[in-house]
Amino acid sequence: MYRYYELRELESKAPKLFGIPTGTKLDEMFFKVEKEGDRYIKKPLGGVPHLAVMNITGVPDTGKSLLAEQFAITQASAGYRVLYVTVESPANFLYTAMKQRSEVLGADFSKVESNIVVIDASESDELRENPKALMETMAYAIKEKKVTNTIIDSITGLYEHKEVMARQIVRQFYNFMKRHRQTGIFVSQKRSAQASESAEAAGGLAVAHIVDGTIVLDKKLIESRWDVKLYGLPIGSVLRTIRIDGCRIAPHDSRMWVFEISEVGTIEIIAPLSEFIKKRAKEEDEE
Ligand SMILES: Nc1ncnc2c1ncn2[C@@H]1O[C@H](COP(=O)(O)OP(=O)(O)O)[C@@H](O)[C@H]1O
Ligand SMILES: [Mg+2]
Repeated sequence: MYRYYELRELESKAPKLFGIPTGTKLDEMFFKVEKEGDRYIKKPLGGVPHLAVMNITGVPDTGKSLLAEQFAITQASAGYRVLYVTVESPANFLYTAMKQRSEVLGADFSKVESNIVVIDASESDELRENPKALMETMAYAIKEKKVTNTIIDSITGLYEHKEVMARQIVRQFYNFMKRHRQTGIFVSQKRSAQASESAEAAGGLAVAHIVDGTIVLDKKLIESRWDVKLYGLPIGSVLRTIRIDGCRIAPHDSRMWVFEISEVGTIEIIAPLSEFIKKRAKEEDEE
């Protein structure tokens, strides 16, 4: 027999709501609501919700890996252990990229290099194709290194060629994260055929439905006179956007924001798209 709970028995199990910083403006885009006097006030959470498993999705080259890496660097330089499971790009590429970005982000690289633990599934068929083998390795690393944040880049890479299994595999890894009390990120890839601003990833909506929240990254090529006029960007350039597309753990900003990727690959979220456009229009009027 399975057991049932009275709601009040769950009090001791209820996680406290606080933010785990990502090193981006996302930290101010999740909220908590607190009572002050007889009013409820929205306060920035300061990060992604503690113990949440967030899905970062988008078509190729939208900055998913960069965002996940920036989160890892931020956490590691604050002294927390991060497990980075790389499924697509081989682990040896991580070192130089993270070193350079740590400098730009003002992070202490000696902390970053000792606090990030890497599992390279990109060069092992066994780890990619056998969830049990990967989870055993992850569990070992988490326990041994006292890891509190886990990133899988990407979860869709774990069910390539077997998308009927998507739900099951995502669910297994999601439950794993909960069992090991990890705050984390699953990166998921979209195919170009899927609506680029939607939460849908390869394998359908499996990832979005199972995880605690989704962040959608997108890019728009400036390719017409109309785009040039609307966004105030030169023809042939790229406008990058980010949006929190739902989170069941904490209230959040749901607008589309504009962000930039610097020369070394750091992410800076600039302004809500609506304000970005308004500002451009104003500048144009003044010219
Ligand atoms: N180290 C870097 N320095 C500068 N720009 C980078 C760097 N890495 C990636 N970029 C740029 O950021 C874009 C997004 O990269 P990435 O996060 O790897 O995309 P995704 O994981 O969504 O496929 C790349 O297309 C490239 O233009
Ligand atoms: Mg990537």
